[in-house]
Amino acid sequence: MSQGKYYLTTPIYYVNAAPHIGHAYTTIAAEVIARLKRMEGCDVVLTSGTDEHGTKVERAAKAQGKTPEEFVNLISNEFRSVWKALDLQIDRFQRTTAPNHAKLVNQLFEACRANGFIYKGTYTGLYSIVSEAFVNDAKPGDIDPESGKPYEQVTEENYFFKLSAFTQPLLDFYEANPNFMLPEIRRNEVLAFVKQGLADVSITRTSIKWGIPVESEPAHVFYVWFDALMTYYSAVEGENRWPADLHLIGKEILRFHAVYWPAFLMAAGWPLPKRLFAHGWLLFENDKMSKSRGNIVRPTPIAEVMGVDALRYFLMREIVFGSDGSFSFDALVGRYNSDLANGLGNLASRTLNMIQQYRDGAIPDSKGDAPTADVAHESAAAALAAYHAFEFSKGLEHVWNIISAVDKFIVERAPWKLVKDPSPEAKAKLDETLYTAAEAVRLVCGLVYPILPHATQAIWSQLGFSSEISAVQTQALVWGKLPAGQKIGAISGVFPRLDLKPTVEKMQELEEAEKKRQAALLGKPPEAAAPLAPLAPEISIDDFSKVDLRVGVVKSAETVRGADKLLHLQVDIGEPEVRSIVAGIALAYKPEALIGRKVVIVANLQPRKLRGLTSQGMIVAASLEGGAPVLASFLEDVPPGARLK
Ligand code: ME8
Ligand code: MG
Repeated sequence: MSQGKYYLTTPIYYVNAAPHIGHAYTTIAAEVIARLKRMEGCDVVLTSGTDEHGTKVERAAKAQGKTPEEFVNLISNEFRSVWKALDLQIDRFQRTTAPNHAKLVNQLFEACRANGFIYKGTYTGLYSIVSEAFVNDAKPGDIDPESGKPYEQVTEENYFFKLSAFTQPLLDFYEANPNFMLPEIRRNEVLAFVKQGLADVSITRTSIKWGIPVESEPAHVFYVWFDALMTYYSAVEGENRWPADLHLIGKEILRFHAVYWPAFLMAAGWPLPKRLFAHGWLLFENDKMSKSRGNIVRPTPIAEVMGVDALRYFLMREIVFGSDGSFSFDALVGRYNSDLANGLGNLASRTLNMIQQYRDGAIPDSKGDAPTADVAHESAAAALAAYHAFEFSKGLEHVWNIISAVDKFIVERAPWKLVKDPSPEAKAKLDETLYTAAEAVRLVCGLVYPILPHATQAIWSQLGFSSEISAVQTQALVWGKLPAGQKIGAISGVFPRLDLKPTVEKMQELEEAEKKRQAALLGKPPEAAAPLAPLAPEISIDDFSKVDLRVGVVKSAETVRGADKLLHLQVDIGEPEVRSIVAGIALAYKPEALIGRKVVIVANLQPRKLRGLTSQGMIVAASLEGGAPVLASFLEDVPPGARLK
């Protein structure tokens, strides 16, 4: 292990939600980096864990009739089992409820106190239960957007941390360590925040029971962040691993990591982590994922249907690391087919099959085609440099350059023609062609192994290697290492092409089941049954028959400029002309998902104008309190124009 130790962390996740694709995103990225560092020869430890203290957890447990311990055990296990299902290799999983952790949090506190950075005071303020923090800029009566309820006024005796004393030391530290926080844009945000001057923060609570007690004064428990950040330290206690080389986090928790955490450590006189990288938000079809929108995606159904590597690849390739990005099932399958099935998978299988057929399964003896080797070399170097800068998407683009260059090269060489030519020149050319393709596949496998560990292992064995691909080191990723004469293994496709619709449907089906299972785990009914809205006054059958409801087919749908809730639809209800209908369903339905869909239209409603568009009818939808509208639809086939009576 020539490159020394490398210690990296994911955040420790709150146990008030079940693991979803956002958590998986960070954990997968961290695991990719861990594999990369191992390839560079580092002795790597990757930690993750769960953040288990605080009021919210206490309440959630109570609501389920469980003790906090029972509840946190359950959800913490859920995180571990999801990481296991995704085959993510987490070396240490630390929980804030671990006994060694409580001891170390107290040591941090005592070290800060001994150095004069802790004092006792009282604090009165508005408190957000959801965020577990006092809210500095709120007025009494303000509604917490996180919970929809007013903030609670809380007064209590707290220990305070003298964060104000660290404004300048932190600025000096950032200046001396320009790569401490990445990407650059996040660094600038933090600098601007710290430059305003930092206020002291309270780090204990007396109003909370479910937390780590301050040993010297057990009426106080530590504030969750003072507790949580310390897992990075306690996870590797006694292993001589601190300071961490990298904390990988989502951008919303950068301030805690870039300001509080280094200040706590400076106050204690302990070493600071070397680097933070804050990645962006993973959105669902460009929308924030949230429970209330019901658009949270879980990773295991994807892994089950498409394989873990497909998910890893999508997340690392589709989303520029550091920026926000969007997940969608269609894009996932699209990327898979274009890059993995038609790209890497196809190149590997055509190469192996030709070697099998034309050379009896033995790697021919050749140096390979020099221009292709050059492309491979340059692209490999560029890919590794990009990975180094955490630019995974760019790195993968470079690797796919090799794939397309070799695809093109094979077509130009037309080995299926060369094989028919008995001349020695043709034989040498065919050897060169096959060697070039196979060597490129080997190189590509090494370069994408951290992202596609399972598929590359399969291709690796098919290339005839008996070693594990995980043992390959970066320095072996140079041209010409594929041994001539090596017998290839049994060939089988690694990325079968997938049909979009059934694949997406299968994932969504599993997703529904997983959503229900997780909801039950968290003790909430899958769909909180809203109280029944009061019934409208009684009407006669004649009253009802005045309403003309018709089956319609949506012919086109588009968004309405400047109105993010509205869609403009053209609906065929069997009349010579389609109806123009403006409907407030844009937050729930994408326009393209509506085309061809059967809907119910109130066909004799007075037309009205909305945003300059005429609406000639109304579309019928169930409207849920605080939720998205759900369109009425039919299970059986029914023609447009049919009346509902
Ligand atoms: O903040 N997109 O825990 P948490 C991208 N316990 N990343 C996402 C994401 C999304 N939509 N959703 C979650 C906490 N994440 C604290 C951390 S650390 C000492 C304490 C990822 O359960 C991302 O890494 O809210 C984010 O920072 C983390 O999950 C937040 O997890
Ligand atoms: Mg969060």
